[in-house]
Amino acid sequence: MSSDFYQKYTNFSEKELLSKIKSKMSAKRFQHVLAVADTAEELARRFDVDVNLARIAGLVHDYAKERPDKEMIALILELDLDSELTVFGNSIWHGILGSVLIERELGITNSQILQAVAVHTTGSPEMSLLDKIIYVADYIEPNRSFEGIETVREIAQKNLDEAVKYEIKHTLIHLIEKEVLIFPKSLETYNACVTKFG
Ligand SMILES: [Fe+2]
Ligand SMILES: [Fe+2]
Repeated sequence: MSSDFYQKYTNFSEKELLSKIKSKMSAKRFQHVLAVADTAEELARRFDVDVNLARIAGLVHDYAKERPDKEMIALILELDLDSELTVFGNSIWHGILGSVLIERELGITNSQILQAVAVHTTGSPEMSLLDKIIYVADYIEPNRSFEGIETVREIAQKNLDEAVKYEIKHTLIHLIEKEVLIFPKSLETYNACVTKFG
């Protein structure tokens, strides 16, 4: 595949972008990011979505996952976001704040990529096909292993909406079992899945 599209959507060549991303995370997470990009590309091909957008969104989706909490809280204040956000950790923040940081630091301005990164931690009641692809690719990439993964991988071959529903449902069950806070938008995503897709 031609790599010109990296420079179209970011300030960098493919090599530069990968080294930027790599420098911000553990080796294990970098492997995850590469696998999400591959899985997102496959899903994009299957569901007729721009493959280059899917690849870049996959590569940058966890760009901010390992930032210190202090830096992320400062960013929440700087952006004047809802202060309720500060009680949640970076497992939530790195979506919405990640979209800001990839714009600032990687020069990504494509609104579809920014939105897919912003909503990948919680889903959203209104998700584009690209949003769904990144959300699902993050969950089913080949390094993932959990009970039921083969089921959701099969569902994702045929029906992205059903795959999103499976993912949000099981994510919420997992969070409730751990007795941790649930971000309201995650519940909105679940409600939308149940009402729209039955
Ligand atoms: Fe993430
Ligand atoms: Fe991820």
